[in-house]
Amino acid sequence: MPEPRRPKSYATGTAPAESAARAERPISTAQMDTSEIIDKLSDLAQLDVDAFHAYGQAIDSVEEMDLRSHLERYQSDHERHYVELSRIIREHGGNPPEFSRDFKGYLIAGFTSLRSAMGTKGALKAMKTNEEMTNRKYSQASGDMRFPVALRSILERFYGDEKTHLSWIEQTLNRIS
Ligand SMILES: [Fe+2]
Repeated sequence: MPEPRRPKSYATGTAPAESAARAERPISTAQMDTSEIIDKLSDLAQLDVDAFHAYGQAIDSVEEMDLRSHLERYQSDHERHYVELSRIIREHGGNPPEFSRDFKGYLIAGFTSLRSAMGTKGALKAMKTNEEMTNRKYSQASGDMRFPVALRSILERFYGDEKTHLSWIEQTLNRIS
């Protein structure tokens, strides 16, 4: 005979809402330590620097003003991500990567194809490859439950920007193909 289900009990003095909020947190997942937070955010910040410069290359290959203005907006999103991540890295006692003036291509593989990109379509195809990478990285980071909650919500916001970038590029490539 199965035991009758007992009514759910809450700890004395704990409101159900608080108890539910606590239950959402995974109990077995350890929080990330500060040095790992700094390392992971530094990788993302470097990726944003690379993406910023990759957008610069792409913008130079695109003549259509409406397309350029989208690319410029996405480029500034990456700059904003870099600035915000750098602030958080410093708050944790770390040194953010430099915002290099040149494209070093540490993490972005699409640079080679951007160099030889012929016109709008080539540039957008290269940026699609790059944005697939930034989407993958931000998806992984924002889904990492070991980040502190407040940080994860920032990473989720950035991931939302990345999804917008990739989906616009895909739609535009479909439209002009
Ligand atoms: Fe992006």
